[in-house]
Amino acid sequence: MLLCICKGVSESHVKAHVSQGVCTMQKLSCQTGLGTQCGVCRKSARQLLNQMVATNPTTIASGVSAG
Ligand code: FES
Repeated sequence: MLLCICKGVSESHVKAHVSQGVCTMQKLSCQTGLGTQCGVCRKSARQLLNQMVATNPTTIASGVSAG
């Protein structure tokens, strides 16, 4: 399912980045372009990001670009 229509970023794309250590909206936007056009997707993306960080803190903490 597309999360960011403007940039063509899917939910699975976001999950892949988060599982590799991306844990902030700023990094997610920099790496995917998500939320950098109309911004409608930001709320949903933030909820997904927060949910993933809350449920997988050790996986995310060991990621390559955490922090
Ligand atoms: S839907 Fe993501 S920037 Fe427009």
